[in-house]
Amino acid sequence: MSRLVIVSNRVAPVSQKRSGAEGGLAVAVFAALKERGGVWFGWSGKVVSGEPGDCELFESGNVTYATVALTQQDYEEYYSGFANRTLWPLFHFRLDLTDFSRRNLVAYQRVNVFFSQQLLGLLHKDDLIWVHDYHLIPMADLLREAGCRQRMGFFLHIPWPSMEVLLALPNHREIVRALSAYDLVGFQTERDVRRFLDYIIMEVGGRVGRNGTVHAFDRSFRVAALPVGIDADNVSDFAQEAKSSRQTARLKRSLVGRDLMIGVDRLDYSKGLVSRLEAYELLLAKYPAHRGHVTLLQIAPPSRSDVPEYLEIRRELESAAGRINGAYAEFDWSPIRYLNKGFSRQALAGFLRLARVGVVTPLRDGMNLVAKEFVAAQDPEDPGVLVLSRFAGAAQQLEDALIVNPYDVESVAEAMQTALTMDLEERRERWQRMMEGLERDNVHAWRERFMEALTAPMRKR
Ligand code: G6P
Repeated sequence: MSRLVIVSNRVAPVSQKRSGAEGGLAVAVFAALKERGGVWFGWSGKVVSGEPGDCELFESGNVTYATVALTQQDYEEYYSGFANRTLWPLFHFRLDLTDFSRRNLVAYQRVNVFFSQQLLGLLHKDDLIWVHDYHLIPMADLLREAGCRQRMGFFLHIPWPSMEVLLALPNHREIVRALSAYDLVGFQTERDVRRFLDYIIMEVGGRVGRNGTVHAFDRSFRVAALPVGIDADNVSDFAQEAKSSRQTARLKRSLVGRDLMIGVDRLDYSKGLVSRLEAYELLLAKYPAHRGHVTLLQIAPPSRSDVPEYLEIRRELESAAGRINGAYAEFDWSPIRYLNKGFSRQALAGFLRLARVGVVTPLRDGMNLVAKEFVAAQDPEDPGVLVLSRFAGAAQQLEDALIVNPYDVESVAEAMQTALTMDLEERRERWQRMMEGLERDNVHAWRERFMEALTAPMRKR
């Protein structure tokens, strides 16, 4: 069996304590890699003042972590800059927040060259290389230039934008051309694939074969929708065990019988947190019976705090949470508990299980694993209800959630009301269907499908 080499900017277990702020990539890659074993290469999470030095190796179980540091300048221009102020907002359809500078683009190329050079020294001839996410799109192209002939796959964890949005990126063609150096490019949903192919056909004049093989830029590569899954059984076990854990018991006691609504999101403008709070405010205004009887626990660990747009969204949220609590709180109840910190996955699973309603209402999201984790964490006998944005990739699979349009705040408030009052039979039926899908299309199946597609013989025409 070939060795699997995973490449991503974030290498979670080494670079940070697992806290709930990691995001879908780290959770999924860790779950996929710990079963099969292999190498995980990426940023160490460290920022150094001088030269970054060479890659550091570290073994844990069957995984070898290989990490490199970033200089302060690279951190600012590549990570905070081109990755998170250009590609992230643009790929989330936020042209209004997209900032482009040639200086940051140069840094993006520079860091990708540095990463590819460091990775070269680690590679074996028959490795399978699997690159993740928008930070490292040029990786295959750079490795190919250096003579690498290994199979290389890429998976995009975030949405692929529509063509008209992508065209606003001055180097859009270079980005797509770089993707053509992979053997396989995986997206979260069929919709992402379709948007990608629109660009290939209309902008590049490429051709798409029957089995998803794309012919463009004088190259042939395959594209596929391969939605990321979770380790559903593992989350379910965590949640069950958490019943007796100290933190879950404390949360339960503090609710004194009130219904819990829960949101768990990195503090990011793509997550639709302000509109979510507004929908909750509307629920309290329109259905006064809930006042004093429902608590919204919004867990929002800060993320990318050096990027100005993240400071701004934090201020907006603080103001919305303060306003709603000010308007509705009583001396013995506050409608919102807003927390800027993360919790271990175990603690979160326990919290999710306690909740009557899970609210996952991003304005745009590649997949959203919290939606899936919420379902997997429920008690089969008395499951809670998921309110889910149609703009999360997860909505393509979790059709039995209450699917909402997060831009329509009134309809989200109505869905919250439906969720809080749904009878047990309907809750069980919806949950059962969703859980079956999560167990079938779990994170292990995702890895296997990706590997299968990556190693399948390529049809050239
Ligand atoms: C999303 C992205 C990941 C990223 C994560 C956390 O899930 O798809 O690539 O790692 O957010 O963001 P951060 O900037 O802290 O790595």
